[in-house]
Amino acid sequence: MTLTATAPETTAPETTAPDTTAPNARLNAIVDDVQAALIEVIRKHRVTDEEYRAATLWLMNAGTQHLEIPMMLDVFLAQAVDDLNHQVSDGTDCNVEGPVYVAGAPELTAPYALPQRADEPGTPLVFSGTVRSADGSPLADTLLDIWQANGAGEYSHFNPDLPEFNLRGKLRTDREGRFEFATVMPSEYPIPLGGSTGQLLASLGRTGVRPGHIHFKLSHPDAQPLTTQIYFDGDPYLGNDVVGACKPSLVVSPVAGVDAAGRPAVTCTFDFVLPAAG
Ligand code: BEZ
Ligand code: FE
Repeated sequence: MTLTATAPETTAPETTAPDTTAPNARLNAIVDDVQAALIEVIRKHRVTDEEYRAATLWLMNAGTQHLEIPMMLDVFLAQAVDDLNHQVSDGTDCNVEGPVYVAGAPELTAPYALPQRADEPGTPLVFSGTVRSADGSPLADTLLDIWQANGAGEYSHFNPDLPEFNLRGKLRTDREGRFEFATVMPSEYPIPLGGSTGQLLASLGRTGVRPGHIHFKLSHPDAQPLTTQIYFDGDPYLGNDVVGACKPSLVVSPVAGVDAAGRPAVTCTFDFVLPAAG
Protein backbone atom coordinates (compact mmCIF):
# COMPACT_ATOMS: atom_id res chain seq x y z
CA MET A 1 0.00 0.00 0.00
CA THR A 2 1.55 3.34 -1.05
CA LEU A 3 -1.08 5.36 0.77
CA THR A 4 0.28 7.71 3.44
CA ALA A 5 -1.68 9.75 5.92
CA THR A 6 -1.09 12.16 8.78
CA ALA A 7 -3.16 12.23 11.96
CA PRO A 8 -6.03 14.77 11.99
CA GLU A 9 -6.74 17.14 14.89
CA THR A 10 -9.38 15.36 16.98
CA THR A 11 -11.20 15.78 20.24
CA ALA A 12 -12.58 12.74 22.05
CA PRO A 13 -16.38 12.46 21.54
CA GLU A 14 -18.58 12.53 24.63
CA THR A 15 -19.82 9.00 25.23
CA THR A 16 -22.60 7.44 27.25
CA ALA A 17 -22.32 3.83 28.44
CA PRO A 18 -23.68 1.55 25.66
CA ASP A 19 -26.70 -0.63 26.44
CA THR A 20 -25.44 -4.22 26.21
CA THR A 21 -28.63 -5.82 27.57
CA ALA A 22 -30.39 -6.06 24.19
CA PRO A 23 -27.89 -7.25 21.56
CA ASN A 24 -29.02 -6.86 17.97
CA ALA A 25 -28.77 -10.32 16.34
CA ARG A 26 -28.72 -9.11 12.72
CA LEU A 27 -26.08 -6.49 13.48
CA ASN A 28 -24.02 -9.17 15.25
CA ALA A 29 -24.23 -11.47 12.22
CA ILE A 30 -23.20 -8.70 9.79
CA VAL A 31 -20.36 -7.37 11.95
CA ASP A 32 -19.05 -10.92 12.48
CA ASP A 33 -18.98 -11.44 8.70
CA VAL A 34 -17.36 -8.04 7.99
CA GLN A 35 -14.68 -8.80 10.57
CA ALA A 36 -14.10 -12.32 9.17
CA ALA A 37 -13.85 -10.93 5.58
CA LEU A 38 -11.34 -8.25 6.63
CA ILE A 39 -9.25 -10.74 8.60
CA GLU A 40 -9.18 -12.95 5.51
CA VAL A 41 -7.88 -9.97 3.45
CA ILE A 42 -5.25 -9.17 6.12
CA ARG A 43 -4.00 -12.78 6.05
CA LYS A 44 -4.16 -13.16 2.27
CA HIS A 45 -2.14 -9.97 1.62
CA ARG A 46 0.04 -10.22 4.74
CA VAL A 47 -0.86 -6.65 5.74
CA THR A 48 2.02 -5.01 7.65
CA ASP A 49 1.92 -2.88 10.84
CA GLU A 50 2.77 0.18 8.76
CA GLU A 51 -0.08 -0.49 6.30
CA TYR A 52 -2.54 -1.07 9.15
CA ARG A 53 -1.55 2.26 10.76
CA ALA A 54 -1.83 4.07 7.39
CA ALA A 55 -5.36 2.68 6.94
CA THR A 56 -6.32 3.80 10.46
CA LEU A 57 -5.01 7.33 9.87
CA TRP A 58 -6.71 7.45 6.46
CA LEU A 59 -10.07 6.65 8.09
CA MET A 60 -9.46 9.20 10.87
CA ASN A 61 -8.75 11.87 8.26
CA ALA A 62 -11.85 10.94 6.23
CA GLY A 63 -13.98 11.33 9.36
CA THR A 64 -12.88 14.95 9.78
CA GLN A 65 -13.82 15.90 6.17
CA HIS A 66 -17.37 17.07 5.42
CA LEU A 67 -19.39 14.35 3.57
CA GLU A 68 -16.22 12.37 2.78
CA ILE A 69 -17.34 9.09 4.38
CA PRO A 70 -20.79 9.00 2.68
CA MET A 71 -19.13 9.81 -0.65
CA MET A 72 -16.50 7.10 -0.17
CA LEU A 73 -19.24 4.56 0.67
CA ASP A 74 -21.23 5.70 -2.40
CA VAL A 75 -18.17 5.26 -4.62
CA PHE A 76 -17.35 1.74 -3.44
CA LEU A 77 -20.58 0.13 -2.17
CA ALA A 78 -23.83 1.99 -2.96
CA GLN A 79 -24.57 0.35 -6.32
CA ALA A 80 -24.37 -3.13 -4.75
CA VAL A 81 -26.86 -2.14 -2.02
CA ASP A 82 -29.08 -0.50 -4.63
CA ASP A 83 -29.13 -3.57 -6.91
CA LEU A 84 -29.90 -5.87 -4.00
CA ASN A 85 -32.82 -3.80 -2.73
CA HIS A 86 -34.30 -2.09 -5.77
CA GLN A 87 -33.54 -4.10 -8.91
CA VAL A 88 -36.76 -5.50 -10.42
CA SER A 89 -37.01 -7.93 -13.32
CA ASP A 90 -39.86 -6.27 -15.25
CA GLY A 91 -38.98 -2.59 -14.83
CA THR A 92 -36.29 -0.05 -15.71
CA ASP A 93 -32.94 -0.77 -14.05
CA CYS A 94 -32.26 1.18 -10.86
CA ASN A 95 -29.11 3.25 -10.40
CA VAL A 96 -27.42 4.76 -7.38
CA GLU A 97 -28.87 8.02 -5.97
CA GLY A 98 -25.43 9.42 -5.12
CA PRO A 99 -24.57 12.12 -2.59
CA VAL A 100 -25.72 15.24 -4.49
CA TYR A 101 -29.52 14.82 -4.40
CA VAL A 102 -31.24 17.82 -2.81
CA ALA A 103 -34.88 17.47 -1.69
CA GLY A 104 -37.32 20.30 -2.35
CA ALA A 105 -36.60 21.05 -6.03
CA PRO A 106 -39.27 23.30 -7.60
CA GLU A 107 -42.34 21.78 -9.32
CA LEU A 108 -42.08 23.16 -12.86
CA THR A 109 -44.90 24.10 -15.21
CA ALA A 110 -45.23 22.86 -18.82
CA PRO A 111 -43.59 23.32 -21.27
CA TYR A 112 -40.84 22.03 -19.02
CA ALA A 113 -37.27 23.34 -18.84
CA LEU A 114 -34.91 22.64 -15.94
CA PRO A 115 -33.97 25.96 -14.23
CA GLN A 116 -30.75 27.19 -15.84
CA ARG A 117 -28.81 30.37 -16.58
CA ALA A 118 -28.90 32.08 -19.99
CA ASP A 119 -25.27 31.06 -20.55
CA GLU A 120 -25.47 27.60 -18.94
CA PRO A 121 -22.47 25.55 -20.13
CA GLY A 122 -23.56 22.58 -22.26
CA THR A 123 -25.23 21.81 -25.58
CA PRO A 124 -29.03 22.34 -25.45
CA LEU A 125 -30.78 18.99 -24.95
CA VAL A 126 -34.44 18.05 -25.29
CA PHE A 127 -35.13 14.86 -23.32
CA SER A 128 -38.47 13.14 -23.92
CA GLY A 129 -40.03 9.77 -23.22
CA THR A 130 -42.83 7.92 -21.54
CA VAL A 131 -43.54 6.26 -18.21
CA ARG A 132 -45.51 3.01 -18.41
CA SER A 133 -46.42 0.15 -16.13
CA ALA A 134 -45.04 -3.33 -16.80
CA ASP A 135 -48.20 -4.23 -18.82
CA GLY A 136 -47.55 -1.25 -21.14
CA SER A 137 -50.34 1.04 -19.90
CA PRO A 138 -49.32 4.71 -19.58
CA LEU A 139 -48.73 6.07 -16.08
CA ALA A 140 -50.31 9.53 -16.24
CA ASP A 141 -49.22 12.13 -13.66
CA THR A 142 -46.02 10.31 -12.68
CA LEU A 143 -43.77 12.71 -10.76
CA LEU A 144 -40.20 12.93 -12.12
CA ASP A 145 -37.70 14.58 -9.76
CA ILE A 146 -34.66 15.37 -11.92
CA TRP A 147 -31.14 16.64 -11.10
CA GLN A 148 -27.94 16.88 -13.12
CA ALA A 149 -24.58 18.58 -13.60
CA ASN A 150 -24.18 21.16 -16.39
CA GLY A 151 -21.81 20.92 -19.37
CA ALA A 152 -18.91 21.92 -17.13
CA GLY A 153 -19.59 19.07 -14.69
CA GLU A 154 -20.95 21.40 -11.97
CA TYR A 155 -23.88 20.63 -9.62
CA SER A 156 -25.89 23.39 -7.94
CA HIS A 157 -25.72 23.31 -4.09
CA PHE A 158 -22.22 21.78 -4.40
CA ASN A 159 -20.73 24.68 -6.35
CA PRO A 160 -21.10 28.12 -4.70
CA ASP A 161 -21.21 29.90 -8.09
CA LEU A 162 -24.46 28.24 -9.22
CA PRO A 163 -27.95 29.47 -8.27
CA GLU A 164 -30.05 27.32 -5.91
CA PHE A 165 -31.78 24.44 -7.72
CA ASN A 166 -30.00 25.17 -11.00
CA LEU A 167 -30.68 22.11 -13.25
CA ARG A 168 -32.94 20.58 -10.60
CA GLY A 169 -36.72 20.35 -10.93
CA LYS A 170 -39.87 18.23 -10.79
CA LEU A 171 -42.29 17.60 -13.63
CA ARG A 172 -45.21 15.27 -14.39
CA THR A 173 -46.21 12.99 -17.25
CA ASP A 174 -49.32 13.88 -19.31
CA ARG A 175 -52.42 11.70 -19.79
CA GLU A 176 -50.55 9.39 -22.18
CA GLY A 177 -47.66 9.01 -19.74
CA ARG A 178 -45.43 11.27 -21.87
CA PHE A 179 -42.91 13.83 -20.65
CA GLU A 180 -40.48 16.25 -22.29
CA PHE A 181 -38.06 18.78 -20.83
CA ALA A 182 -35.38 21.14 -22.10
CA THR A 183 -31.98 21.13 -20.44
CA VAL A 184 -28.29 20.96 -21.39
CA MET A 185 -26.08 17.92 -22.00
CA PRO A 186 -24.29 17.09 -18.72
CA SER A 187 -20.57 16.47 -19.11
CA GLU A 188 -18.49 13.83 -17.42
CA TYR A 189 -17.07 15.12 -14.13
CA PRO A 190 -14.56 14.17 -11.45
CA ILE A 191 -16.16 13.47 -8.08
CA PRO A 192 -14.68 15.73 -5.35
CA LEU A 193 -11.08 14.46 -5.17
CA GLY A 194 -9.58 16.84 -2.58
CA GLY A 195 -10.15 14.51 0.38
CA SER A 196 -9.37 10.97 1.51
CA THR A 197 -11.39 9.30 -1.28
CA GLY A 198 -9.44 11.23 -3.91
CA GLN A 199 -6.16 10.34 -2.16
CA LEU A 200 -7.07 6.65 -2.24
CA LEU A 201 -8.22 6.75 -5.90
CA ALA A 202 -4.97 8.51 -6.90
CA SER A 203 -2.94 5.83 -5.09
CA LEU A 204 -4.95 3.21 -6.99
CA GLY A 205 -4.30 4.99 -10.31
CA ARG A 206 -8.07 5.44 -10.93
CA THR A 207 -9.42 8.54 -12.66
CA GLY A 208 -12.21 9.42 -10.21
CA VAL A 209 -14.48 10.43 -13.10
CA ARG A 210 -18.18 9.72 -13.65
CA PRO A 211 -19.61 9.65 -17.18
CA GLY A 212 -22.19 12.39 -17.93
CA HIS A 213 -25.63 11.44 -16.63
CA ILE A 214 -29.02 12.75 -15.56
CA HIS A 215 -30.54 11.56 -12.27
CA PHE A 216 -34.24 10.68 -12.00
CA LYS A 217 -36.54 9.75 -9.11
CA LEU A 218 -39.94 8.59 -10.39
CA SER A 219 -43.02 8.13 -8.25
CA HIS A 220 -46.64 7.20 -8.96
CA PRO A 221 -49.25 6.02 -6.42
CA ASP A 222 -49.89 2.74 -8.31
CA ALA A 223 -46.26 1.89 -9.12
CA GLN A 224 -43.00 0.99 -7.41
CA PRO A 225 -40.78 4.08 -7.03
CA LEU A 226 -37.58 4.17 -9.07
CA THR A 227 -34.27 6.02 -8.60
CA THR A 228 -32.02 5.79 -11.62
CA GLN A 229 -29.66 7.63 -13.98
CA ILE A 230 -29.54 7.98 -17.76
CA TYR A 231 -26.18 8.00 -19.60
CA PHE A 232 -25.22 9.01 -23.16
CA ASP A 233 -23.80 6.84 -25.91
CA GLY A 234 -20.33 7.99 -27.03
CA ASP A 235 -19.24 9.19 -23.58
CA PRO A 236 -15.61 8.03 -23.18
CA TYR A 237 -16.16 7.26 -19.47
CA LEU A 238 -19.12 4.85 -19.89
CA GLY A 239 -16.83 1.86 -19.32
CA ASN A 240 -14.66 3.63 -16.76
CA ASP A 241 -17.13 4.98 -14.21
CA VAL A 242 -15.45 5.49 -10.80
CA VAL A 243 -18.69 4.36 -9.16
CA GLY A 244 -19.11 1.37 -11.52
CA ALA A 245 -22.81 2.25 -11.77
CA CYS A 246 -23.37 2.69 -15.52
CA LYS A 247 -25.60 -0.07 -17.00
CA PRO A 248 -26.03 -0.60 -20.79
CA SER A 249 -29.85 -0.57 -20.45
CA LEU A 250 -29.65 3.04 -19.20
CA VAL A 251 -27.61 4.46 -22.10
CA VAL A 252 -29.49 6.61 -24.66
CA SER A 253 -28.31 7.71 -28.11
CA PRO A 254 -28.36 11.51 -28.47
CA VAL A 255 -29.43 12.74 -31.92
CA ALA A 256 -28.85 16.19 -33.45
CA GLY A 257 -32.30 17.86 -33.74
CA VAL A 258 -34.27 20.98 -32.82
CA ASP A 259 -36.19 22.24 -29.78
CA ALA A 260 -39.86 23.41 -29.76
CA ALA A 261 -38.78 26.84 -31.07
CA GLY A 262 -36.81 25.29 -33.94
CA ARG A 263 -33.40 25.99 -32.35
CA PRO A 264 -30.64 23.41 -32.75
CA ALA A 265 -30.63 20.98 -29.85
CA VAL A 266 -29.62 17.43 -29.20
CA THR A 267 -32.63 15.21 -28.59
CA CYS A 268 -32.91 11.88 -26.81
CA THR A 269 -35.69 9.57 -25.70
CA PHE A 270 -36.07 7.09 -22.87
CA ASP A 271 -39.12 5.05 -21.93
CA PHE A 272 -39.33 4.19 -18.23
CA VAL A 273 -41.19 1.11 -16.95
CA LEU A 274 -42.45 1.02 -13.35
CA PRO A 275 -43.89 -2.30 -12.12
CA ALA A 276 -47.13 -2.15 -10.11
CA ALA A 277 -46.84 -1.28 -6.43
CA GLY A 278 -46.54 -4.42 -4.30
C1 BEZ B 1 -23.26 11.02 -8.59
O1 BEZ B 1 -23.86 10.42 -9.44
O2 BEZ B 1 -23.43 12.21 -8.54
C2 BEZ B 1 -22.33 10.28 -7.65
C3 BEZ B 1 -22.64 8.98 -7.31
C4 BEZ B 1 -21.81 8.29 -6.43
C5 BEZ B 1 -20.67 8.92 -5.90
C6 BEZ B 1 -20.37 10.23 -6.25
C7 BEZ B 1 -21.21 10.92 -7.13
FE1 FE C 1 -24.38 12.57 -10.48
